[in-house]
Amino acid sequence: MERLVSNWYNHRPLPESYICPPETRPGKLSIPSGDTIPVVSLGEALINRSNTILNVLRASQEFGFFQVVNHGVSEKVLNDTMNVVEEFFKMPMEEKASLYSEDPNKVCRLYTSNINYGTEKYHFWRDILKHHCHPLDDCIKLWPQKPTRYRDVIRTFSVEGKKLGLTILELLTEGLGLESGYFKKDLSEAMLLVANHYPPCPDPSLTLGLPKHCDPNLITILLQGHTFGLQVFKDGQWIGVQPLPNALVVNIGHQLRIVSNNKLKSAEHRAVTNSKVARTTAGLFISSSEDSIIEPAKSLTNAAQPPLYRAFRYKEFLSYYFSMMGDTELALQPFKLPFNQSVIS
Ligand code: OGA
Ligand code: NI
Repeated sequence: MERLVSNWYNHRPLPESYICPPETRPGKLSIPSGDTIPVVSLGEALINRSNTILNVLRASQEFGFFQVVNHGVSEKVLNDTMNVVEEFFKMPMEEKASLYSEDPNKVCRLYTSNINYGTEKYHFWRDILKHHCHPLDDCIKLWPQKPTRYRDVIRTFSVEGKKLGLTILELLTEGLGLESGYFKKDLSEAMLLVANHYPPCPDPSLTLGLPKHCDPNLITILLQGHTFGLQVFKDGQWIGVQPLPNALVVNIGHQLRIVSNNKLKSAEHRAVTNSKVARTTAGLFISSSEDSIIEPAKSLTNAAQPPLYRAFRYKEFLSYYFSMMGDTELALQPFKLPFNQSVIS
């Protein structure tokens, strides 16, 4: 519990154990202006569906990241969610102590930094609340009881966010030419909520809130609030994801990259800190259940485009992913198939 950044950060210089090696430091944090990720208005799908499909598909192929507006999740739900998550992190430590755990298998837990505080070489400027959202009626009983509105608000956010995730997946299904409903059942059955809290940091140039990573799951829907911090790695540089009112950030995870046989991109991203204000985000991580088999969709592969990955259980991938501490290409390595030149000649 004492390890939580929000417990001790006030008025202290950055501890040495939070300083990243020079090559991963964000440095002076200049984000090239004009360069940002695509913004897609989903309301437009009602008028011109094929155009919306094209926009979502292009963004997923080129960036692996986009923001959605007019997405159908109400402003009230977004505001309630951000407020209740911020309130959670603002509560006195005694109120949160029972949720703190260093056991990654706990269904609902509060922890800090990244995958394993005890073994990581240096730490990250972040506290995390993470819990399952499926099956909702079972796991909701384990969610925080305070703030008192937490369960109600996050239940609504998770149901609406899941619906939005499925809408976007269906647009991608059509765009890729997969059979309708391809992602609707097993592949998107499970969901996690991850709320990240990055307190103001005494030296944002030396540390990170969250290291460079790709998400392991199918697709992620993130409510990022009003503060800059999320960056996407594109064409050799970091670009900032501009906070937009009532927008949600969407990114493709490894699972979707694999199922699409690399037609969609799982983009690397990270979170930087700032010295002025705390930043809080709430992400919904949609994935298959851990026992599901993941493999490139059969209809996307043929002799000219052989499958680039073998079939595996999602839990096998997850345990390898976490052992690689999120390192993107290394995490995929044991699941890749050798590209057989003879097939295409
Ligand atoms: C994540 C993530 C970004 C953010 O939780 O995987 O990428 O801005 N979060 O909090
Ligand atoms: Ni992420």
